[in-house]
Amino acid sequence: MSSITLREARKYEEIRGGSVPAELRPVFHLSPRIGWMNDPNGFSEYGGRFHQFYQYHPYSRKWGPMHWGHAVSEDLVTWEYLPAALAPDTSPDRDGCWSGSALTADDGRHILMYTGLHVLSKDTGAAVQKQCVAFGDGTEYTKYEGNPVLDEKDLPEGFSIRDFRDPKMFREKDGTYGCVLASCTKERDARILYYTSEDGITWKFAGILAENNGRFGTFWECPDFFELDGKAVLLCSPMHMLKTDRYSSGNGNLCLIGSFDRETCRFKDEYDQPVDFGLEFYASQTMMSSDGRRIMAAWMQNWDTVINDFTKLPWYGQMILPRELSVKNGKLYQQPVREIEKYRTDRTVHENVVINGSRTLEGVSGRTADLQVTIRPAEENSFRTFEIRLAENEEFFTSLKYDRETSELTFDRSFSGTRKGIQHTRSFKVREHDGELKLRILLDRWSVECFVNDGEQAATSVLYTDLSAEGISFHADGNAYLSIEKHTLSI
Ligand code: FRU
Repeated sequence: MSSITLREARKYEEIRGGSVPAELRPVFHLSPRIGWMNDPNGFSEYGGRFHQFYQYHPYSRKWGPMHWGHAVSEDLVTWEYLPAALAPDTSPDRDGCWSGSALTADDGRHILMYTGLHVLSKDTGAAVQKQCVAFGDGTEYTKYEGNPVLDEKDLPEGFSIRDFRDPKMFREKDGTYGCVLASCTKERDARILYYTSEDGITWKFAGILAENNGRFGTFWECPDFFELDGKAVLLCSPMHMLKTDRYSSGNGNLCLIGSFDRETCRFKDEYDQPVDFGLEFYASQTMMSSDGRRIMAAWMQNWDTVINDFTKLPWYGQMILPRELSVKNGKLYQQPVREIEKYRTDRTVHENVVINGSRTLEGVSGRTADLQVTIRPAEENSFRTFEIRLAENEEFFTSLKYDRETSELTFDRSFSGTRKGIQHTRSFKVREHDGELKLRILLDRWSVECFVNDGEQAATSVLYTDLSAEGISFHADGNAYLSIEKHTLSI
């Protein structure tokens, strides 16, 4: 029997969300049914469909007491909304059902594990964070009456129940459950805690998986831990990052690659990289699909750049198009899920076009596109900068500019309809392979996802540009060869 809080949320989202016309939504990115969305939660395959839950405040376009919104998909591209799955309606989660994950339980039920928020003082904001579980059939979920399943007594010495969140469950090789959780020392230095369980309900502390030691920001939100292509991979979203050559300041994202010692439950990282170099990418979460792919979802936003006062849309927040992950030469690679290719509706190809100055190309325009671009100099050093402008008209454009001298790719959305004076550019180092730079650009109504060199790097950002800006143009300050394959993406 669902609570009044959940029933009200479901009624509200059905009436208000049900009437949002498709033109007011992204074409191939998941947005909340109504109101606000942050982190993907419970990303899983269950009952023959993909499930993506999300941090959800249906009643406004701002963050508030968290519910879990719910959407299902056959192909990770088009999503159907289901009624909200969780609402803040029990003692341990009365102020919010925060982020968590999902698996199929041994008895065939869908198990959700999430952080319950219980505010102690509205004045100081002091709150405790405890882990809870719920079981369901893919639509209706019942919270376990013994919640919370992890609280202060399960924390190692020196850790605080005020910073203990975002459980990510997985199956161990022997079929039991494992779970990683975010916490920190008194100095707010991130630690990832590892728990194990036989049934998903009774959890035991197994060890401290990873320590930040001041390297990447302070607290690491939304940890995820898995094995991929023979390597152990830890993904997380560090808060309060300091800017360095590779990392941007503020809320960031981090991939650590290394090895895992089962005996001590210790992860040893050997390599670090940002998962995404764009302005908006946070709180990633992966799942293993039944066809053996490690697939990642993420919030296509960032706490530092949340600006919801100007858009007239009835929702705020989007998810990335899920990505397939792999590890090659000890590094993380990512590609948009292959299912997106089904939605290509036309094909325009231009091979080895010389760009010198500015030009547009026949058949290359539009606001929802899949562009595969290869750029190379006509002869050694025949150009320094090459720029692609997207979502362009007389007033607006969004730019991806490659500078061969600095080896930097710069994303710039300063002229993308924003009225907020925050950072709108991001630059990062890229490499040419065999004298070429390859870009795959997925353009949707309000976002750009760019993949460099077959997934060696990714950069994701949102746009606020008026939809009438549909132009795509190319600019070089010397002779550049451009090859392009462009498809429209239509659902
Ligand atoms: C990350 C996060 C999580 C938390 C959730 C609350 O974006 O802060 O750590 O569980 O959002 O909405």
